[in-house]
Amino acid sequence: MKRFAQVVAVTLAVMTMASFASAQCKYKHDKKIVVGFSQIGAESAWRAANTESIQSEAQKRADCIELKFSDAQQKQENQIKAIRSFIAQGVDVIAFSPVVESGWEPVLQEAKQAGIPVILSDRAVDVKDDTLWVSFMGSDFVEEGRRSAKWLVESYDKVKRADKSADEVNIVELVGTVGSAPANDRFSGFREGLTDFPKFKIIASQSADFTRAGGKQVMEAFLKTYGDKIDVVYGHNDDSALGAIQAIEEFGLKPGKDIIIVSIDAVRGAFEAMVEGKLNCTVECSPLLGPQLFDAAEDLVQGKELPKRIVTNEGVFPSEVAKETLPQRTY
Ligand code: AHR
Repeated sequence: MKRFAQVVAVTLAVMTMASFASAQCKYKHDKKIVVGFSQIGAESAWRAANTESIQSEAQKRADCIELKFSDAQQKQENQIKAIRSFIAQGVDVIAFSPVVESGWEPVLQEAKQAGIPVILSDRAVDVKDDTLWVSFMGSDFVEEGRRSAKWLVESYDKVKRADKSADEVNIVELVGTVGSAPANDRFSGFREGLTDFPKFKIIASQSADFTRAGGKQVMEAFLKTYGDKIDVVYGHNDDSALGAIQAIEEFGLKPGKDIIIVSIDAVRGAFEAMVEGKLNCTVECSPLLGPQLFDAAEDLVQGKELPKRIVTNEGVFPSEVAKETLPQRTY
């Protein structure tokens, strides 16, 4: 009797799990949808969270999705190889986050000729023919740059060290990966946001490659050249700003006080730094694109038309809200 009850309990549990799994898919499909995804690499906490979101969502939809995941280790040539291999395997949908904007025409032509739709996830490509991809989902990076500038213009006088000049503000910029969409767009959006405020001057700008190590190294060089003349660091992502924080401390200054820091992503590490008073503001860029991506793949296979652009909704978090917001951050 006890054995029978155990068998029933296990069967029920399996049935519940099975119905839960299929409940995650948007539609009932005749066969599994094979999605090939080419990820850039693992350069930042943001990227790790993005990979987790994609892999865990595919897992939830295991009833209808088979994910072929490939890590390009920051190299465009590896992404091109991965896409060619997805084409050769005849996947249903290709998705990728392009490491840089240019150089994608030939491989995207090949995907188009093979009749495989391509979704751009997180980053855009710079190609003349926009029929080479069906949809681009992700953040508005120009807007993130503008938001960083807006926060700085509105808050600088309140957060600056009392003895620092309010008439001339020297900014150093930690640029993202050279040639990538977020680096290009955050560069231009930030400048756009400062156009009417000439007292804010960008005195140095260099690539930190979206990494902590890069942020530390570039900031060390900036400090060597400009020292205490630096009033603000603008980091194209939180990881590079966190590296810069380390460099500032080692230089004997107080990040968040002697030097004001604004960066982009809103990862947990940035909130922790804000709670410690070492970072002043983070502008959100959500990596949680998994659900949107597989909804889109399911829609495509059902013959539905996708919007050409799907923009992620995001906020701005100054240090005042860091403590209360930190527990809710999921990445
Ligand atoms: O493309 C998004 C950017 O890439 C994130 O801001 C950065 O952290 C990442 O590596």
